[in-house]
Amino acid sequence: MLEGEIRRMIILGVTHPISWNNAACILVDGKLIAMVEEERLNRIKHAPRMAPVLAIDYCLNTVGITLKDVDYVAVGFDSVFKAALNNFDNEEFLFGLNQAVNWLWQGSKYEKQLPLQDFDRQRIIFVNHHTAHAASSFFSSGFKEANVISLDGSGGSESGVLGFAKGVEIEFYKRVSNRGSWGLIYEAITEKLGFRRHSGEGKVMGLAAYGTPDPKGLPFVDWEQEIPVIIPDKRKEFIASLPTRNKEEPLTQWHKDLAATLQYTLEKAVSRMAEYLYEKTGSKNLCLAGGTALNCSMNGKLAKLPFVENIFIQPAAHDAGSALGAALYVHAIKTGQRPDFAMEHAYWGPEFSNEEIEKELNNYPELKYYKSEDIYLETAQYLKEGKIIGWFQGRSEVGPRALGNRSILANPSLPEMKDKVNNFVKHREPWRPFAPSILEESIEKYVENPKPSPFMIMAFDTIPTVQKEIISAIHVDGTCRPQTVSKKTNPRYWKLIKQFEQLTGIPAVLNTSFNVDSQPIVNAPAEGIETFINCGIDVLVIGDYIAHKK
Ligand SMILES: [Fe+2]
Repeated sequence: MLEGEIRRMIILGVTHPISWNNAACILVDGKLIAMVEEERLNRIKHAPRMAPVLAIDYCLNTVGITLKDVDYVAVGFDSVFKAALNNFDNEEFLFGLNQAVNWLWQGSKYEKQLPLQDFDRQRIIFVNHHTAHAASSFFSSGFKEANVISLDGSGGSESGVLGFAKGVEIEFYKRVSNRGSWGLIYEAITEKLGFRRHSGEGKVMGLAAYGTPDPKGLPFVDWEQEIPVIIPDKRKEFIASLPTRNKEEPLTQWHKDLAATLQYTLEKAVSRMAEYLYEKTGSKNLCLAGGTALNCSMNGKLAKLPFVENIFIQPAAHDAGSALGAALYVHAIKTGQRPDFAMEHAYWGPEFSNEEIEKELNNYPELKYYKSEDIYLETAQYLKEGKIIGWFQGRSEVGPRALGNRSILANPSLPEMKDKVNNFVKHREPWRPFAPSILEESIEKYVENPKPSPFMIMAFDTIPTVQKEIISAIHVDGTCRPQTVSKKTNPRYWKLIKQFEQLTGIPAVLNTSFNVDSQPIVNAPAEGIETFINCGIDVLVIGDYIAHKK
């Protein structure tokens, strides 16, 4: 506790190091103060199976405390023994035994990596993984009550939950077993299509738009239950029957159709889950979480359902968000009060002053830079001319999407920009779409049935007559996954897009994450500068400075 301060409730949220994306966050009196994924600091993509050691340090430093000042550490997973035992409840005996043994062995190995040796064991609270996912969404949503769906590959003892949350309570009606995991099936087919598990799923979602789904869906789902259920033996047989594409092999129509059928089946199944909850509770609010909730095509379909009026998905829906959910949940159970928090933006990571940025710029003689009088006007002019901009401002984002603080930007109305950004900067598969950032007050101009979308996590159908204005940020099926940019939560980014609108009449820019070659998104100025130097970005706008290559 800091001297002279009134006692506050401080909760450090951490992912369990067995997670695929690790992170830490810190709450003070139920308000989020800082959150960052370990990958942004240790520079290892996703930081899988690693304790969030640097992220913990960043959170404690941001509040200006040490670990001894923390009241509780909340971990986004059951403790090893509980997770192991729960497998016997949710699975058939032999599978459960196998899972339990595996969990005991793996879980204890990773659990020991948490840097909590000097922290009182009684104040380390382990939260069931899907409870943490669900809490991360509901307690951040601002909804008074909501139906909640959490789905991922595996969360220790189950792969998903369906429930209803109100006030401080979250009640679960259904649990999805690990054998019947929807996340796992997406991962398995991702691998069969020649992409990497735990990172290529977004590519499969993008590929799906080029295929035609089998209207029967994948052949191992029992649609007659209250919610659709995967039949494990049939799934196993189906997956075993699929050839594995070598990543050098061309993608054929068969691959595209398989991706489309997978996506269609997932969307149909989760829509039915949402309907089941609506029929049970009557609530038209829906919160989603878990890695599956990063599927923006699915989220867009759910948002259009007649029984979904409001939908919320926080930007770190994957495992990183279990740190946040665990912390919010522990606040609720320890105080009996709902955390006083609604997540309006994703900017909870490190920031750097102009002085720090200039000091770093001085280390690179291959650059010329100056302090701009008006970064908005100058940057908007460059964008209008078709230049690719590295835009590095303020606190870094949580979650896999850059949302205007560590972003690469381009003019979305120039049809050639998609290939230019791909060929000179991102080196992604040419069929993958980019996305637009649109002023929130202008979203209705571009998409059908608009809803707030601050986290670029939902796809919408675009309005055909204005597609040409954002042509480089639209997918082949006419959808886009926009970020709605608010003046209140990101005034600098809003001001830039507003300036761009004044020059071009278009209140939108193409926005992709500031990283290359599967590296984590840049965090510190040196990473931004080096990425700029080593790729085809034309101009770097970092803090109040504008840098060019000599
Ligand atoms: Fe998860």
